Amino acid sequence: MWSGVLASQIRPNLVITGFMGVGKSTVARLVAFKMERPFVDTDAVLVERAGMSIPDVFATHGETWFRRLEAEVCVDMAAKTGLVVATGGGALLNADTLAAMSSTGMVVCLHATESTLAARLDGERAGRPLAGGWRDLLAERLPSYKVMPYHVHTDNKTPEQVAEEVISTWQNVFG
Ligand code: S3P
Repeated sequence: MWSGVLASQIRPNLVITGFMGVGKSTVARLVAFKMERPFVDTDAVLVERAGMSIPDVFATHGETWFRRLEAEVCVDMAAKTGLVVATGGGALLNADTLAAMSSTGMVVCLHATESTLAARLDGERAGRPLAGGWRDLLAERLPSYKVMPYHVHTDNKTPEQVAEEVISTWQNVFG
């Protein structure tokens, strides 16, 4: 898809996605630091644009509105270069958004087992409006995560180790 020469000219984004609770933001921040690139969290950009928290967006405008804004934010980030981007867990389930992110970046999907996710998501209600039904949501979404271009498993690894693995995945492609 990308050659090393092309990549050095256009500086593709490195986009980190995956289900909620896999550690996308923590890992992406570390990857950005190590690669000396700017870090962008699409949820944070969305919160800034909406002028309210994600639970408030869901409560005030509903999920469809949230998804529209989320797609807009992702397309805007895909128009930039040289970033490390962490997406919200549902962002790249939108085929157009995945296509936009993939056209200017390398998309890496993080994974965790259900027991790891349970430890992070059971009891989490405040910040994540969809966390209550996470098991059903995961089952529904797994086929979509499986077709993401690159994958890194996070179980029994520190964020530091996961970040190194993401960077190795990048280096295997771009050298
Ligand atoms: C969502 C995941 C959240 C956030 C929103 C919806 C999802 O981000 O975008 O609550 O649909 O999976 P995290 O994956 O960072 O929790």
